[in-house]
Amino acid sequence: MYSDKVFEHFRNPRNVGEIKDADGVGTVGNPVCGDLMTIYIKVENDRIKDIKFQTFGCAAAIATSSMATELAKGKTLKEALEITRDVVAEALGGLPKQKMHCSNLAADALRRAIVDYLRKNGKFDKIKELGLEKELEKMEKGETDDHGEYCEA
Ligand code: FES
Repeated sequence: MYSDKVFEHFRNPRNVGEIKDADGVGTVGNPVCGDLMTIYIKVENDRIKDIKFQTFGCAAAIATSSMATELAKGKTLKEALEITRDVVAEALGGLPKQKMHCSNLAADALRRAIVDYLRKNGKFDKIKELGLEKELEKMEKGETDDHGEYCEA
């Protein structure tokens, strides 16, 4: 059912934990299962210098978070936004269809952490430039649920 890579990241997840003095924090919940994920980032010169995650989620959620944080480390904010759910799932050698909704969490928590960093630094132009206004709106309203495309599955 799961690829070897998913098992490997589940058993030995990378970048687990919290960054106490994070520059940006993003939390999302999955409406399908009620699971929650938070991603913490440190940013330097527009790059993700450090990243950690905490999740109350299933094996697929843990593996996708682990992979997403690995992919994001060292990337510019713009490059990190290209880490979509599909990119993460593909990097893990695929996910079973019924577990694709789990991959919503990592990619979206990462986007939110980036928005949080930008808003804390008053970079609202950049939020607009990167097309993150919707995320900002949801975050300002305190909405944590992510009704991603796979959540209909
Ligand atoms: Fe909840 Fe996978 S079942 S994230």
